[in-house]
Amino acid sequence: MEVFNEIEPLKAFLKDKRTTCSIGLVPTMGALHAGHSSLIQFSKQENQLTVTSIFVNPVQFNNPKDLEKYPRMLEHDINMLCKAGCDVLFVPDTQEMYKQPSTIQFDFGHLDKILEGKFRPGHFSGVAIIVSKFFHIVQPNIAYFGQKDFQQFKVIEKLVNELQFDLLLRPVPIFREADGLAMSSRNLRLNETERKKAIVFYESLLFAKQMLLQGKMISQVKELVKQKCELVEGVRLEYFEMVSSENLLAQDIVTEKSILLIAGFVGEVRLIDNLMMTP
Ligand code: PAF
Repeated sequence: MEVFNEIEPLKAFLKDKRTTCSIGLVPTMGALHAGHSSLIQFSKQENQLTVTSIFVNPVQFNNPKDLEKYPRMLEHDINMLCKAGCDVLFVPDTQEMYKQPSTIQFDFGHLDKILEGKFRPGHFSGVAIIVSKFFHIVQPNIAYFGQKDFQQFKVIEKLVNELQFDLLLRPVPIFREADGLAMSSRNLRLNETERKKAIVFYESLLFAKQMLLQGKMISQVKELVKQKCELVEGVRLEYFEMVSSENLLAQDIVTEKSILLIAGFVGEVRLIDNLMMTP
């Protein structure tokens, strides 16, 4: 695997490759797990060259403690990437990506004011800034993003459409642990007891889906999910919503586009998850 820390040498390397290879990009913040490996596998199936970026992007963190505590484990990540067959790793430092402090602000209208956007102001603007930089540097044919961050995918979709980036976006299904917990780098911050409790969010999604399919009203289901989470000590629900997967507008009635999204804390660790109402 070729490793680059700087933008210009990476661009020069990719310029040559681009003439014969299609390029897949897997942007990450490191602390890689099986979910990331699956993004790489998808990219390898569709491209001759897969580039993974590892960069903990400060401008997308609205909580300085979260940024400080975000797991960093480069040696482990490099081993995983080699095993997964990644061709190129781009691992810049903050100075390389932000030669001067970023003053740009993206506004995605209602898409970044709801759900995650409501609880993490500025987060999606920060994501859009770094993803735009990666798209300009790597110029991938296809970029891969996990569906656990469903709202992030919708924001990036809007970014690509409105700014006419010449690339395809591929959403990759959520990868789950054996008990159903959605894989996330943040899971590493959970202690043993918290790890067990964290399953409450996925269980709430499954429970909610069942209740809604049985005809319960969303308002009732929201209350039941709240109660279910409140029963687990140390768990704090931030939101549970049913929205359209097309435009993220809240829904009262289940349609074939409905998606359930949940977010909350287990101890100090914030987790998110989601579930489509129809497979
Ligand atoms: O989903 C992530 O890991 C990050 O938000 C991303 C897309 C790599 C941007 O920093």
